[in-house]
Parts: sequence; C-alpha cells; structure tokens
Amino acid sequence: MSKRTIVAMPGDGIGKVVLPAAIKVLDKVGFEAEYVHADIGWEFWCSEGNPLPDRTIDLLAKHKIGLFGAITSKPKSEAAKELDPTLADKGYVYYSPIVGMRQKFDLDVCMRPCRSFEGNPLNFIRRGPGGTIEEPAVDVVIFRQNTEGLYGGVEWTNPPQQVRDALNTHPKFKAFASVPPEELAVSTRLFTQNACNRIVGSAFAYAKKFGYKSVTICEKPNVIRETSGMMLQTAKRIQKDYPDIELWNTNIDAQMMWLTKNPEDYGVIVAGNMFGDIVSDGFAGLVGGLGFACSANIGEEVAVFEPTHGSAPKYETLEPSIVNPMAMMLSACMMLDHIGESEKAEKIRTAIAEVIKEGKGFTYDMLKLRGGPEALEQGAASTDQVTEAIIAKL
Ligand code: NAI
Ligand code: MG
Repeated sequence: MSKRTIVAMPGDGIGKVVLPAAIKVLDKVGFEAEYVHADIGWEFWCSEGNPLPDRTIDLLAKHKIGLFGAITSKPKSEAAKELDPTLADKGYVYYSPIVGMRQKFDLDVCMRPCRSFEGNPLNFIRRGPGGTIEEPAVDVVIFRQNTEGLYGGVEWTNPPQQVRDALNTHPKFKAFASVPPEELAVSTRLFTQNACNRIVGSAFAYAKKFGYKSVTICEKPNVIRETSGMMLQTAKRIQKDYPDIELWNTNIDAQMMWLTKNPEDYGVIVAGNMFGDIVSDGFAGLVGGLGFACSANIGEEVAVFEPTHGSAPKYETLEPSIVNPMAMMLSACMMLDHIGESEKAEKIRTAIAEVIKEGKGFTYDMLKLRGGPEALEQGAASTDQVTEAIIAKL
C-alpha cells in the first residue's frame, strides 16, 4: 500500500508528549506514513490571533486524516491579555480550534469507545451476591452527534423581537410570555434529519462490522419529543436494515443511574451532542478515565482522531513526562480502523492490553498517585517507559 500522509497536530502541553509517543507505536507496528506537522492551539492564538491557522485547515483539507493531541484554552480576559501586543485591538476573538475544526469540516460523527482492559486498577468494580466482588468487562462505543443540538450555538440572552415573536407562536411559550426581555435566555436544540441519519447509520454500520448485538438510543423522547423523537424514529427505520442487531432505547437520566448496574450489557450507544458528551464521560469513568478515553471526529471527507483529555498544563514541562499516552495511542488505533488498517490497530490494542495485564508499566493515574515528579519514585512508570513497554510487545 502506498504511504499515507497524516496531519500531525500535537497542539499544547502534553499533546506534545503523547502524540510523538503514539507515532512511535504506529512506526513500530509497520504503519507506513508520512506525518506533516500542523500548527494548532494557544501558541498560535498568542502569536497570530488564530488558534487554527488557515495553513492547518489547508493541510487537513488536502490530506483528510488528522491526529490531534490537545490544546489549551483560557477565559476571554486571559486570551486578550496574552495576545501579542501588536495584534491587540485588531478585532481578534479567541475561539476553540476543536469546535472550529468540527464546524469547518462538518465532523458530525464523534465516536468514543470505552473498553476496560483486564488488570487495569482503575476498572469499575461492584458488589455481587454474597459479598463477592464483580469486575464487569465494559465494551461500549458511544456515537455522539458532534455538530448540532444544544452545542449548536444558536442561543440568546435577551433574544431579538423576531425570535420572541416566533416563540410566541408556540402555545407553550405562554408561560414565558411576560418574562422581561433581558431576563430571558434561550438555547436551542436543533436536530436535522440528515445528521440523525448519519449518526444512527454510522452506529449500526459499526455494530455490524464489529459484531455488537445492540444499538441503544440514549435520549429522552418522552419529554423532548421533537428532537429526541427524531433520533428514535430514525433508529427504528434504520434498524430494519439490520435485523440481527437489537434496537434499545434508554433515557439519559436513567442511563446514568444504571451506569454502574449493568454496563456490560451495552454495546453501541447513540446520543445527541450534549447527552453524548455526558454518557461518554460516564462510561469513560468505568474504564480508567482520561488516560484511556480516545475519540474520533468523522466527517464525509475529513476525520480527526484525538484523546478526550486536555493539555494538562501542569505536566507540560515535567521531565521525564509521567502522563498516560494510552488514550492517544488508542485514538491512533481508531485512525487505523478508519483507513482500513484494523489489523495493525488490533496489534497495538493487544500490546497495550498485555502491558496492562502484566501490571508492570502503570502510569501515575493508574496507581491513583498524585501527579508530580515524586510519582516515579512511588512506582509509577514514565510516559517513555510505558511507550517502550508497548513497543517491546510489538
Ligand atoms: P485535562 O484533561 O488537561 O486534565 C484534567 C486532569 O486529568 C488533570 O489532573 C490532568 O493532569 C489529568 N490528565 C489529563 N490527561 C492525562 C493523561 N494523559 N495521563 C494522566 N493524567 C492526565 O483538563 P483540564 O485540566 O480541565 O484542562 C487543561 C487545559 O486543557 C485547559 O486549557 C482546557 O481548556 C484544555 N482542554 C482541552 C481539551 C482538548 O484539547 N480536547 C479537552 C479538555 C480540556
Ligand atoms: Mg466532555
């Protein structure tokens, strides 16, 4: 196969640590690729007034596949303060480059697998009958709609009169009709049929490809009838093409209550933007949290793979680094799956599983230690040691 070109965007903080570690593992497994570096993050906000420079967008548009570490973002006032003085008062406004990427390339399908690895001390355990301890194997893949819904950004405080007029046409708005304009805030939850088709269709296709027995729609259609209802109706229609896969339907609130009761029963889960954010963090907590939470943002053309964690600035300059590179490596495996290199992805996942099972290379988070240089003296493995242990298995 010809060499792939991958756009490598380390970003800020520990993004610069975990992305190179993942590339080492990709090299070792024999994935032939050329990595072109692309700028993203706080540094470029400060120096250019744009955390997602056009040259990065051009590279993604050209090469289609991105591996992304993490970025730092700060509140508005700090963003203004840290902007290069020559750029001040030129109208630059900070925005999230991640949201920017999702919008620019319509990366509407977000996948977040949450799988427990045997031997991970962070795995969820619960009490079983007769005082026994159970450690259910969790293997859930959340499909979160990434571009619409409550995070779509269509919102107002003190909405313009036309918006109020439109809301007034709804009988239920009577209850709010006398609220003074400046005391009214509105955030919309817009779903489109096309996006519902894409997220539900992707979930069923994935369930079939990887042998999951169920797809669960995790919404709230009994209350949020229109948007959650559209998602559920879409799933009922699409399920007809997948007679071997069961369609389940849970409410987000009940799902979170049941999270620890029977997480092993779920396979593929679909949710809108906000509920998907919530339910994926919930499941990630059962399998080790941020050090393991990988993700993919997939559009029709472009796809970007990234760990869910941020830039962890307090570890940015810590030498040797102690952060867990597995979430980044597992994100790289999702990239391999996406481009038809699942065999290599499986090899890396197996190597990670073996290292964890042997219990020799645990980073500080897995040992529930306080992060800091002293973690290494207390028995934690460094980022490099874990990376080398995984490479040795390959
Ligand atoms: P964070 O994810 O960077 O860190 C949260 C906690 O988890 C910290 O204690 C951190 O040390 C730990 N942690 C994170 N990744 C780890 C890893 N691989 N191994 C071991 N421990 C790990 O989130 P936080 O502290 O809320 O935000 C820090 C910066 O990152 C902020 O500027 C925030 O805006 C940004 N951020 C960026 C994200 C992204 O790039 N996707 C996502 C979340 C936050
Ligand atoms: Mg989140």
